[in-house]
Amino acid sequence: MSIRLFLLLVGVILCSPALTASEAQGLMHANTDLSDQDSLQRGAGTFVNYCLSCHAAAYMRFNRLGKDLGISDDVLKNNLMFGTQKTGSTMTIAMTREDAKQYFGGAIPPDLSVIARSRGVDWLYTYFMTFYRDPSRPLGVNNLTFKDVGMPHVLWELQGWQQPVYEEEKHADGRITKKILHLERETGGLQTPEEYAGTVRDLVNFMDYLGEPIKLKRQQIGFWVIFYLLFILLPVVYLLKKEYWKDIH
Ligand code: HEC
Repeated sequence: MSIRLFLLLVGVILCSPALTASEAQGLMHANTDLSDQDSLQRGAGTFVNYCLSCHAAAYMRFNRLGKDLGISDDVLKNNLMFGTQKTGSTMTIAMTREDAKQYFGGAIPPDLSVIARSRGVDWLYTYFMTFYRDPSRPLGVNNLTFKDVGMPHVLWELQGWQQPVYEEEKHADGRITKKILHLERETGGLQTPEEYAGTVRDLVNFMDYLGEPIKLKRQQIGFWVIFYLLFILLPVVYLLKKEYWKDIH
């Protein structure tokens, strides 16, 4: 392959707008930023206060979290940890799987350590934006992103409640079914919609960190590796090739 063709191919691959999975599924954009340490700290606070009672994050240790997010041991102990846990312990919970099965009718709250890697940040963001009131469900809540979810809307105090706006669909055989068009604000919460969106963004940002604590560093190193390959090694190798072949051509 000629060098021009190769460079052209590299250019095409780098420039083509990749259709991400989230665009294909109509998810909202989380717009998270792992380099925003304040956001990660706020997200850690929300996570510990609202999630760590049912969900564990057993692959993370409190002191690692403190070190990565710039939180001192004192603040860690007083604000993010409960009871007698040591800073070197992992983020586990007291509830057993058997208890959880009973409490939530069979649905078990999964460990959230790597949830951002399996679901993606946009999915998580959209999930927390699309809880709505549904009296037909055991907990009185449902979710547009996770149909018939077994988890309560734990952030309802902050967001308030949403209710669905339906559209009737007539089928060819005369049947009429209802389809949810969008969600509408029913009651307000402690936060304005913008503040709530910020809270969820921080929470999802934190879960992204949790899923791969080294991600930010990895991406920075990756940039320099590609930079080195393309702009330093490639020209040298190209010149070397010219030198080797100059007597033959
Ligand atoms: C009262 C207990 C409880 C609390 C508190 C709670 N959850 Fe859950 N969560 C559950 C249960 C139960 C499920 C399983 C739902 C199912 O499978 O239908 C679940 C499921 C989930 C899922 C979907 C997992 C999947 O299958 O992909 C995510 C994501 C999640 N929770 C995140 C959170 C976050 C983030 C918080 C804190 C803001 C939180 N949860 C707080 C009980 C809880």
